[in-house]
Amino acid sequence: WSPFVVSAPGKLILFGEHAVVYGKAAIAGSLDMRAYALVTPRADNKARMVLPDIDVDVLFDSHTLPLLQSTSLSHPSEVEALVPDSINIPEGPGRTAVLTFVYLYGCIFAERDRNTGFTICVRSLLPVGAGLGSSAAFNVALSATLLQLTGQLREEGAGAGDRKLINQWAFHGEQVAHGTPSGIDNSVATYGGFLKYVKGEPSVNLESSHALRVLITNTNVPKSTKALVAGVRALRDQHPSVVDGILDSIHSISISAAALFQSVGEDEAYLERRMQDIIRINHGLLFTLGVSHRSLERVREITAARDLASKLTGAGGGGCALTLIPGGIAGDDVEVVVREMESEGFCCYQTVVGGGG
Ligand code: PMV
Repeated sequence: WSPFVVSAPGKLILFGEHAVVYGKAAIAGSLDMRAYALVTPRADNKARMVLPDIDVDVLFDSHTLPLLQSTSLSHPSEVEALVPDSINIPEGPGRTAVLTFVYLYGCIFAERDRNTGFTICVRSLLPVGAGLGSSAAFNVALSATLLQLTGQLREEGAGAGDRKLINQWAFHGEQVAHGTPSGIDNSVATYGGFLKYVKGEPSVNLESSHALRVLITNTNVPKSTKALVAGVRALRDQHPSVVDGILDSIHSISISAAALFQSVGEDEAYLERRMQDIIRINHGLLFTLGVSHRSLERVREITAARDLASKLTGAGGGGCALTLIPGGIAGDDVEVVVREMESEGFCCYQTVVGGGG
């Protein structure tokens, strides 16, 4: 076989974070920042995974690989016990990546009598731990690679059936990485575009013909999704009807956003104005839930001074904010905003949301 490249995008939660935990709708879109896997054959039947961005270079020899293939795992959390002593597991994100590889390789190659030696090298434009779905992009690229190597993908370029399979395996990879993921990140990375997501239901591709220009600002303030989700829960326990009202409003915002994405015939300027309204309202509601942070408020102030709308994206408490960049704004004006953010110690990415999976 010939070398091949697989890539998958990161994700941006546009509307509905936190409310989605309580069964409300969220809207997410794919980023034009992607993870790229280059897969090359090797003659020695070994498997090597190289992730230069996070200092991973592991080699599984031809004794280890059949062991991984023959062990049946009932749950991704059991994978740790499987890693052979000969493999030096790094700390941090590299550790998660190696465990995910062991799990997905073991499952996808299971009972397939294939001595396929390969090297997979993954590079990513997505910052790790910023809530932009870097692990899901990696898991989708890795799942697609392993399915391709075992001859399980039928359609060139991944058709609907293939994507369903890729998405299922990438979700298991996310379980290794995050324990109990919602599934939104891997769905966006697999299908691309804009998705409406409700917990426990299959995600709905909004089939939008729009793409959004968005400035993502990483405040570089570390956040704990778990602690922030717990904070909202504690507030809701104290004030159930007040907080439920806020969560219902966020749900209505997601529904309005879905309608805007699916609208045809409206001019872009009208859509952008309505989108800016709901971005501002959604951020205000998240602020009242206690999940903003002074760094995120700084982003909001800097952009509001230029009539631009921003909101936090993901868990909040730091992490990233998004700012809609309307079509009419000059590139130089965006640069001025970027410089102002950088002087605060933030880091910006000019992106387009809604591209392919
Ligand atoms: O931390 P992130 O950016 O992956 O986003 C978390 C989103 C929440 O709604 C706060 C939690 C969740 O599980 O949906």
